[in-house]
Amino acid sequence: MPRQLFVTTALPYANGTFHVGHIMEYIQADIWVRFQRMRGHAVDFVCADDTHGAPIMLAAEAAGVTPQQFVQNIGAGRRAYLDGFLLSFDHWHNTDSPENHALARQIYLALRDHPEGSLIDERTIEQFYDPQKGIFLPDRFIKGTCPRCGAQDQYGDNCEQCGAVYAPTDLVAPYSALSGMTPELRRSQHFFFRLSDPRCVTFLEPWTQRLQPEVAHKVQEWFTQRTLPDGTVRTGLDDWDISRDAPYFGIEIPDAPGKYFYVWLDAPIGYLAALQHWLGLRGVNIDAYLANPALEQYHFIGKDIITFHTLFWPALLHCSGRKVPDNVFVHGFLTVNNGQKMSKSRGTGLDPLRYLELGMHPEWLRYYLATKLSARNEDIDFTPADFLARVNSDLVGKYVNIASRVLGFVHKHFGGCLPQAPAQADDALPSAVRTCAEELATLYEQREFGKAMRRVMELADRTNQHFDAAKPWILAREQRSEELGAVCASTLEAFRLLTIYLQPVLPETARKVSELLHIPQMCWADVDATLPAGHKVEPYTHLLQRVQPQQLEALFETPGNVSTKESAKESTQASTKISAHAVAPSTPPSTATATAPTTITTTTMEPPILPGGEAIAPTIRIDDFAKIDLRIARIVDCQRVEGATKLLQLTLDVGEGRMRNVLSGIASAYQPQDLVGKLTVVVANLEPRQMKFGLSEGMVLAASHADKKADPGIYLLEPTSGAQPGMRIR
Ligand code: MSP
Ligand code: ZN
Repeated sequence: MPRQLFVTTALPYANGTFHVGHIMEYIQADIWVRFQRMRGHAVDFVCADDTHGAPIMLAAEAAGVTPQQFVQNIGAGRRAYLDGFLLSFDHWHNTDSPENHALARQIYLALRDHPEGSLIDERTIEQFYDPQKGIFLPDRFIKGTCPRCGAQDQYGDNCEQCGAVYAPTDLVAPYSALSGMTPELRRSQHFFFRLSDPRCVTFLEPWTQRLQPEVAHKVQEWFTQRTLPDGTVRTGLDDWDISRDAPYFGIEIPDAPGKYFYVWLDAPIGYLAALQHWLGLRGVNIDAYLANPALEQYHFIGKDIITFHTLFWPALLHCSGRKVPDNVFVHGFLTVNNGQKMSKSRGTGLDPLRYLELGMHPEWLRYYLATKLSARNEDIDFTPADFLARVNSDLVGKYVNIASRVLGFVHKHFGGCLPQAPAQADDALPSAVRTCAEELATLYEQREFGKAMRRVMELADRTNQHFDAAKPWILAREQRSEELGAVCASTLEAFRLLTIYLQPVLPETARKVSELLHIPQMCWADVDATLPAGHKVEPYTHLLQRVQPQQLEALFETPGNVSTKESAKESTQASTKISAHAVAPSTPPSTATATAPTTITTTTMEPPILPGGEAIAPTIRIDDFAKIDLRIARIVDCQRVEGATKLLQLTLDVGEGRMRNVLSGIASAYQPQDLVGKLTVVVANLEPRQMKFGLSEGMVLAASHADKKADPGIYLLEPTSGAQPGMRIR
């Protein structure tokens, strides 16, 4: 039975470009969605920009544009990422859309006017107000001295020095991060959603049991007991403050002029707004669509926004009489290079657009992340060396390699027509690969992508072994055409099956394979098909290249410069202007996201000086290095040079059948007799140089400190044992 699925990823704040953490979430969801579509299920996959809230309002102001213009600029930059990483969203919307305004009001009114008693409360609260800016200050815009440890310039919600958690009103000497002014405490009417109401709690307690075990466990604690910042223990859920006072960029609350929905109220409603718009384009009514009892609704999110998605959001939907999510899939955070957390505001060294601009293939990242992803809420790390190994050795070395080998034989020996169906013995391989289809489908369904990738690579290993064991080059030489045909057919069939298994991760490569094999785009059911004998296939063309190490080097160099360029491209005046205005030293990180693109630089721009007294020289390419011919040389003789205090004259055997004369400035460090017989390294293709004391035909390599006063030592290189004169060093 085909399923009907409605799938979303979290709506990114519209105040900065994407970082690789966002891309990871989209890739995870996209792999799952593509898998579902291959299984014949109908999926509506949407996302949107999360446009509202004080930080965006202030960022727009600083940029000198309206908030609407500001978020539109950000929105315009999304396409490059979505297309670039092969993300198959059906539609990308935004939360300032007419659909979202209308839906947010409808949902609110349903809560307020609930027939069994209102779920909205009005209460007066006291809040800090910036008299100069004329706005109520969100916690993160208030700074002051920590009430516990006395550290200065701490944010309004917690101390970065001692870790204390408190309310902004607890700060000693509070000041506004926007103006520097001392804020005033002012009273204001706020609207609260009664999350503590039994109607919410009795619904949520059983509903949250469906979550991933580790997530459900955490959520369960919120129902039972929590320790508050001041140490008191509370039981049950708190009501939720859902309103903010003007000026605010958001959706005005019905019948309450000057009051706006807090951004986190209308943000998830944006899921429905995006869906509604997308369905509208196809003439489908959203209410009819949501009324389908078989419809399944899933949200992919990161671990930092669990509360909003597992308490507020399902409760809002349930209490307003709407369909609730079937599940929320929580992933951990992606870090780069061992745990450097990519904060939302500071970004990271791995800029996704830069990745694409360097010509790095989106499927490398998709595959690499797939190998790391599981159904658990756990952090994963991007490590360049690991990335290189997984992609080059596994993906290209094992999987892609099969096609290049077998198609070569099919073209050379069978004119590009698929040979006879495999003989009994050869059929065992495709059968074995085919048998794994359901296991792999289950792993995909459960979002255990890492396990799925490992299984596929095991099968790729088996396929390569099968092909090698048949020694096709010998079969070809001995013209054992029938056997050669059989092994080619079975190997190619196994390759076709592996391609089906990898298609959710590698949509573009899978499409190319379909073209090579002259078959339509494959779906999961094609596991049970086979290519008939005589079927014509194309000669091998490149499916997927290897990662070049220098691409990774380029990816991680000076992220700051690069990102500035990208963001300028993306949101023209917005992001360039912001940096000039909004990045006051007092701007807290989580609210300064608009400035992130211009302030990403976390590494110093000057390369560091190493213990030898010098910084690393500018990056060269591998072919620059290849120009230098380094060889092992034996020092067959060594003499002092008459009249030269620093020089030794070396007679070197570089395995050329002649000796070389090399003059080297190492006399201060070595006695000639100590060097005779030793092996060392020589630059063998260095232009010979006529010196006062003779011709020098090369240069031996030695280490030294840049500053002789710091360390006068000279340390000649010597290979470990086994090296022979004439061997090249690479
Ligand atoms: N606007 C809210 C979400 C509203 S959903 C109705 C928000 N936006 S965000 O841009 O800060 O984050 C968007 C998503 O990216 C979230 O799911 C968040 O967890 C995820 N990630 C942010 N940093 C991440 C990593 N370093 N790694 C993986 N995911 C990350 O929160
Ligand atoms: Zn403190």
